[in-house]
Amino acid sequence: MKSNDLKINEKLNLAIESHKNKQFQLAEKLYKEILFFNEDHLEANFQLGTLYSQLQNFKLAKPLLTKAHKLSPKSPNINLHIGNLFLSTGDPLGALNFFEKVIQVQPNFALAHFNKGITLYKQKKYQEALRSLERVIEIEPNNINALNVLGFILQEVGEFKKSLAYLKKSININPNNSQAINTLVNLFKFIELFSLSENNSSDLTELFLFLFDKNSIDHNALFNNAKKLIFFEETKNIVEQLIVKNELLLNNNLVKKTIKKKLFHLILQKALFRDKFLEKFLCHIRKEFLFLIKNKNKDENFLKEFKDFIISFAEQSFLNEYLFFQSDEEIKIVNDLKTKIEDDKNINELYISVLGCYLPLNTSEIITHKLAKYTSKCSLFNDLVKIQIKDSILERELKSTISSLDNVTDSISKKVREQYEENPYPRWRYADSVPKNKFLTILNNDIKPNKIISKDNNLTRKVLIAGCGTGQHLVNISSYENSNILAVDLSLSSLAFAKRKMQELNISNVEFLHSDILNLKNLNEKFSVIECVGVLHHLKDPEKGLKILLDILEPKGYLKLGLYSELARKHIVETREMIKKYNIKTTILDIRKFREIVKNDNDNKSFQKLNYNYDFYSTSNVRDLIFHVQEHRYTIPNITKLLRKYNLEFLGFTNSSNKKMYSKHYPNDLECTSLENWNNFEIINPDIFKQMYQFWLKKND
Ligand SMILES: C[S@@+](CC[C@H](N)C(=O)[O-])C[C@H]1O[C@@H](n2cnc3c(N)ncnc32)[C@H](O)[C@@H]1O
Repeated sequence: MKSNDLKINEKLNLAIESHKNKQFQLAEKLYKEILFFNEDHLEANFQLGTLYSQLQNFKLAKPLLTKAHKLSPKSPNINLHIGNLFLSTGDPLGALNFFEKVIQVQPNFALAHFNKGITLYKQKKYQEALRSLERVIEIEPNNINALNVLGFILQEVGEFKKSLAYLKKSININPNNSQAINTLVNLFKFIELFSLSENNSSDLTELFLFLFDKNSIDHNALFNNAKKLIFFEETKNIVEQLIVKNELLLNNNLVKKTIKKKLFHLILQKALFRDKFLEKFLCHIRKEFLFLIKNKNKDENFLKEFKDFIISFAEQSFLNEYLFFQSDEEIKIVNDLKTKIEDDKNINELYISVLGCYLPLNTSEIITHKLAKYTSKCSLFNDLVKIQIKDSILERELKSTISSLDNVTDSISKKVREQYEENPYPRWRYADSVPKNKFLTILNNDIKPNKIISKDNNLTRKVLIAGCGTGQHLVNISSYENSNILAVDLSLSSLAFAKRKMQELNISNVEFLHSDILNLKNLNEKFSVIECVGVLHHLKDPEKGLKILLDILEPKGYLKLGLYSELARKHIVETREMIKKYNIKTTILDIRKFREIVKNDNDNKSFQKLNYNYDFYSTSNVRDLIFHVQEHRYTIPNITKLLRKYNLEFLGFTNSSNKKMYSKHYPNDLECTSLENWNNFEIINPDIFKQMYQFWLKKND
């Protein structure tokens, strides 16, 4: 070997090593030096081409990879990378051609089948895509990426059973693989489990236990199916009869067995109970526990058997902000119990847990003081103390660390603030964890099938969240790569809750500011992205708020809005009128009483519909839903007018299942952005925007 060749080989090894270690500049320099001596060097052409592809500089990548291909036309690796390059530059047919070439030479090249599958999926050739991905699994049965994508595509085409099987396999291989977990959670949003019994549900129960054990997902999405695994039809019928006959539930063995289920406890701890029957059951059983304590007609060992259930119930009560109905008699006994616990020198964990089912423990200074430094042998009791005592102490401290812009002067803003100080919206425990990604990639996913093509995908973004509430959505937004986020809200309690949660989740790119949107001009700052969901419609003059947001949005900046739909809220409007007519107050007692009326009135269509609203099942949500001090509603023509007036480009609604339905009716609107069509579509389907109109806009000036 000549000394020149030796030098080149050493250089190449060093370049490849640096490339692997992401020292891109050094690797690029070394590859270029090799090519300076020998422009036909196969490996240097190929490696430098892949490096540029990796950095998304496809213009520089293409001639290098093409040269490598000329030098070695049959190389599977080179063909694979050229295929990838075609795919990235929007030429799926070109890409498929190269993946086929790889497969011809090397039929078991799993990555070529995988990439072929992805390309076919992007072309909406779902069945062919599935065949390619299944081929990957034949070659590499444990290929997690292929299993996850199969699970995902099968969900898209409605083959839920098969999707479930692939996702389960993926999770068995790696229980921490968040892509499979997220796809699985999504799957259970769309499918409805039925005909479940003790005998046929053990696999599913195990799966739900696995999901409820995770703290990186929003368990609320699982509730409607999870409840069927704790309460089978047979149990439900028996409980109904016991209630009708006014018999004690705790004397029944099936009930006792049911409330000892671990899955029942986990659901109580982590998801809002959104079911009329289960709410009734829980209220009855809570009352029985309270009376057991009052009358002392059973020894404490009987209660101890149910300690985990009672603590979990106390956690549920805190989560739904004590929304379940309490009779006057119960309230009186609870007050006596509170005094008894306050006077007791010892700590009776069972009594405290029952009290926590009826009122937040932090409302008693004495109990707070007793428990603030207490550590139990029971980890679940410690969890309860964290939630009901320690977290609120921390939030109180955090309030003083949040800066404030200035005073709130607008009369409506003052009232709105009062509401959210009393009931920060929403109270939540866990959110879906989202992998970091570039803002434009996330935006494009949100507005699919529309797409923004822009060179500035790597820019650092200044993001404003106007009206962040308690920050559940901040978890999503904090995943924007290279972003600095400012989260603003009128309610200091909401901000303190949000700040505590961000600290818990180690999210560090969010700053908090206590301010009215109407004062944000005083910031003297501009943002490249602003998100304002569920907020403007609560202002006295939403357009005034919109103008302020547009003033502080950079030219060509992106704005996400969430606004109430007039059509979807018809039943809410009727309910609000009733609340006004009967002068129902926003006290917790009135809210509880009113909910009982709503739940039990089977003739009133608006009330019936309310039972299916997610927001009907916790106090802050219910206040927001039907008791709000101020709400405006929109129609699509109203929105269109606003967009025209302020020269805003409509990029698309975010709800993907709505878009799926819409596309079937309007296949020619390839981007799903015709507001005229959407208006017609909403008139025929008035409920589709029940979770608000949520959409992205681009500032055009
Ligand atoms: C319904 S919540 C929505 C919270 C959050 N955007 C979400 O989607 O979960 C409305 C939030 O907007 C805040 N808000 C209402 N009017 C506001 C104003 N004028 N300035 C700042 N925040 C406001 C409230 O305090 C409340 O936290």
